[in-house]
Amino acid sequence: MTSDQPTTAGRRLSRRHLLLGGAAAGIGAASAIGIDLAGRSSQPASVAPTAGPAPAAAHGGETVPFFGVHQAGIETPPQAHGTFIALDLRDDVDRAGLIRLMKIFTDDAARLSQGTPALADSEPELGVIPAALTITFGFGPGVFTRAARTQVMPGWVGPLPAFGVDRLEEKWNDGDLLLQIAADDPVTVAHATRMLLKDARSFARVRWTQPGFRRARGSEKPGTTMRNLFGQVDGTVNLEPGTADFEHLVWGGNNPDWMHGGTGFVLRRIEMNLDKWDRLDRPGREASVGRTLDTGAPLTGTVESDEPDFEAKTAIGFPVIPEFSHIRRARTDNPDERIFRRTYNYDEVPTGDRVSDSGLLFASFQADVTKQFVPIQKRLDELDLLNKWITPIGSAVFAIPPGCAADGYIGETLLAG
Ligand code: HEM
Repeated sequence: MTSDQPTTAGRRLSRRHLLLGGAAAGIGAASAIGIDLAGRSSQPASVAPTAGPAPAAAHGGETVPFFGVHQAGIETPPQAHGTFIALDLRDDVDRAGLIRLMKIFTDDAARLSQGTPALADSEPELGVIPAALTITFGFGPGVFTRAARTQVMPGWVGPLPAFGVDRLEEKWNDGDLLLQIAADDPVTVAHATRMLLKDARSFARVRWTQPGFRRARGSEKPGTTMRNLFGQVDGTVNLEPGTADFEHLVWGGNNPDWMHGGTGFVLRRIEMNLDKWDRLDRPGREASVGRTLDTGAPLTGTVESDEPDFEAKTAIGFPVIPEFSHIRRARTDNPDERIFRRTYNYDEVPTGDRVSDSGLLFASFQADVTKQFVPIQKRLDELDLLNKWITPIGSAVFAIPPGCAADGYIGETLLAG
């Protein structure tokens, strides 16, 4: 007998009980899971870490609440590691299947994010260091079709309009379901990813996986704006969780009722050609964005938080912040055309003559993708000096359902009833 046999059997039992419990009695995930645990008397309801020390180190034990009005992983300060995964539903998955899948996902995410191994966790020792783990779910068009709920699909769900700068590769586009798995520890992310994907196996296939990272937690002061792989301070002008603007522009909007507490999500995989960037001098690099590289201050200021002065002119009459600079083009006078950026760097293993294969997983949350994201991207498409070094190669849009209560599951406002 191999060592994983009992666990695999346990998992099968787990799923059968979960499904039977849900389908036969029409009861919620928590009760169904109760049934499951009753069927496995060897495992207590509150699964204590079976092995390994409790997290002793500074950040390993940190948890982010899972249940609530909004899903975790949006207002949460960005963790050091974030993996985005798109799934495609298998042909036979209908609304009932989606409900089963989302109940299982919810249970896994609720447990793992609190440092409790998932049900029948195959590596429970890896489940005890949450390191601020959040798992956020999103729905692509396929979910609405399978659930027979297309009438309440926000109009902005689906592919974005085509942009001239796009060189999209099919392997990075779209998807039925999104998972954003983020934590301050890469082993935690790897384990959560594996548990969720194992549980999804009979419902869905992986379409793409995009791991990203920021600086390691503890390597700089909390709240420091991240740097992308061009070395730029990236994320200075952004919506701030907890503000009225955030409430309105991320959690508000004119979405169908079931979305109340949810939002919209865009992921653009943008290649940053570092080999070409290497040939640009420092003044050229700073002009392309309109900010300095050392502090991220606007070219007209001295510290990062200074307001850019777009009217300021050089001695010979040119704008100090060039017309083609990224910040000038990305900015708008329309306060409703703003988004919340929560991006990650990616860095693949280069092959052949290339020294780098790097870029940005440009992730943004906004209540209405068409009204908020698209106008910015259109302006950048028309003119942005950065376009010489960056190329969007992947694109996906998802509706992020609201959070749920402890006796509910993510997606219930869309799927139930
Ligand atoms: C690889 C691609 C990109 C890079 C390297 C990049 C880099 C930067 C940098 C360095 C800043 C200045 C600091 C800041 O305020 O964050 C900035 C600002 C900004 N970027 Fe990007 N960006 C990229 C793509 C995008 C895309 C695709 C969008 C939206 C469609 C976008 C929207 C913005 C916005 C809204 C700002 C703030 C502008 C303001 O000052 O009001 N960026 N970006």
